[in-house]
Amino acid sequence: MIKRDRQGRADVNVTAACFVGTPRRPPLLWVPAPVEVLITQAQIRDRVAELGRQIEADYHDRPLTIVAILTGSIVLLADLIREIQLPLRVAVLQASSYKGATTIAGKLSINEDFLPDVAGRDVLLLDDILDTGHTLSTLVGRMSDRGALRVRTAVLLRKIGRQQVQLEPDYCGFEIPDAFVIGYGLDFDDDYRHLPYIGVLDNG
Ligand code: IMP
Ligand code: MG
Repeated sequence: MIKRDRQGRADVNVTAACFVGTPRRPPLLWVPAPVEVLITQAQIRDRVAELGRQIEADYHDRPLTIVAILTGSIVLLADLIREIQLPLRVAVLQASSYKGATTIAGKLSINEDFLPDVAGRDVLLLDDILDTGHTLSTLVGRMSDRGALRVRTAVLLRKIGRQQVQLEPDYCGFEIPDAFVIGYGLDFDDDYRHLPYIGVLDNG
């Protein structure tokens, strides 16, 4: 059960102390099963804008390549890059550890076929969520192997109490309870990615 404040907002931590979200009712959308809203569209928008400001401040004098991890980070990528007023390059690779209708991670498969040369560049790896940490830590190693100068990580979400690999994300939107979440790019069995908010599937 998700804890909520008096305005109905879920109890999630943000890493910046100044965060104030505006609660909004999610728009009505077709979804295959009931979804409990954990983070509203407005909260995400405000927080992504803050992350953009932080990244801008940190990279104003360094050539940046954002490497987005497909497929879950597509919505975050589209929103975040429009909050960064700097010259930057965008690249993608694919990493996946879930197959079909499961919430249990399997073997990690990585496809770097579309990744441009990152040698000598600052890479910011972008993912939807930090769960066990295996995906991001493996990819940090891959970017270093490819000659990236400095590799940092950014995630929208970090699940509390799930991490198996030591990795501190350099930018993190929200810390959330241990629940399987969907929306804003995150899927269950490839559904729900289009939801503009983060939700928890109500399987009950
Ligand atoms: P990690 O390697 O365990 O950190 O998992 C990271 C990947 O697992 C993310 O890129 C997501 O695609 C997926 N994942 C982890 N937790 C969730 C979730 O709650 N909902 C949807 N996808 C998730
Ligand atoms: Mg993913």
